[in-house]
Amino acid sequence: MPKAALTGRGCDIKMSNKIILTGDRPTGRLHIGHYVGSLRRRVELQNEGDYEKMYVFIADAQALTDNIDNPEKVRQNVIEVALDYLACGLDPEKVTIFIQSQIPELTELAFYFMDLVSVSRLQRNPTVKTEIQMRGFAGESIPVGFFTYPVSQAADIALFKATTVPAGEDQRPMIEQANEIVRRFNNIYGETLVESQVMLPQNAACCRLPGTDGKAKMSKSLGNCIYLSDSAKELKKKVNSMYTDPEHIHIEQPGHLEGNTVFTYLDAFATDEDFAQFLPEYKNLDELKAHYTRGGLGDGTCKKFLYNVLNARLEPIRTRREELQKDIPAIYEMLRKGCEDARKVARQTMEEVRKAMKIDYFNDAELIKEQANRYK
Ligand code: TRP
Repeated sequence: MPKAALTGRGCDIKMSNKIILTGDRPTGRLHIGHYVGSLRRRVELQNEGDYEKMYVFIADAQALTDNIDNPEKVRQNVIEVALDYLACGLDPEKVTIFIQSQIPELTELAFYFMDLVSVSRLQRNPTVKTEIQMRGFAGESIPVGFFTYPVSQAADIALFKATTVPAGEDQRPMIEQANEIVRRFNNIYGETLVESQVMLPQNAACCRLPGTDGKAKMSKSLGNCIYLSDSAKELKKKVNSMYTDPEHIHIEQPGHLEGNTVFTYLDAFATDEDFAQFLPEYKNLDELKAHYTRGGLGDGTCKKFLYNVLNARLEPIRTRREELQKDIPAIYEMLRKGCEDARKVARQTMEEVRKAMKIDYFNDAELIKEQANRYK
């Protein structure tokens, strides 16, 4: 029977067998870097409906790998992230939203995956390398759990047989490593798990949105984030203090775009409609950039425009979040249901994995007979 008939969607509707999965560590509220890097795309994907299943999860177990002494922080941020998801428009009717730690099968699969990857391969993972540096872990003090989190992340992806992982550029090495593990698993134990593809943001500026200070990445510890839940007032303050071109002191001077955070953000957010609405003197961003580099355009004008653009995006998110905050128990209930749903799939895959790995002792009548026969 065609899949469309099985799902009752009507045969003329093409159903893709894409399984989309992605997650976030709950170490802080989500910011606009998350939004352009992944959240915005997730909501589009959800609404396009071109998938068999879509999962978005809160990676609390991964967050604990470098916050082991700060469980309260992780606990608090689980709800913050859930609120941010729903405020951005993720719909639990269409997407299974769950919490990583509530799926014990993930830990189980990760444990077997540990045998399929070498220490030196993990040491070469560029994302882990950078993160070790950023956290100031010296060689001896790197927690094993943190060092091996790419293996656990491979389990996150493989357990749900995800084919498509929408994420930022920094997650590419994770997906590559996950695929290597899956390939090895299938080679040794037979085709069981599937490889996935990272789905990067379409716009280059969105891949790595810098912090408001122009530093490499938005990060809570650097205090350079614009949060989805920031008030209009906070937003204005942050935009006004943004890093631009330090050599652009007088308006008449030509300004530089390279490394100019205001323009990087405009690249990520501003549309021609925004110009029509907030800055009709210019048709589009190219015209604004041309004026800026020619000289005669002040940072203040650009910042005011950026504020308007960002606020237009964040306003509806903010309003929805305020609504959602009024019923926190409903958010936990939504998460509980999501975990239940995810676990059903997790159990199913683990059965297949155990069978493939020949550790399904009690489900295998043949095995019991065979062993009994040996001793006859
Ligand atoms: N590593 C991701 C982050 O830091 C979170 C994450 C955990 C994830 N498991 C995943 C993302 C699986 C995509 C797929 O944000």
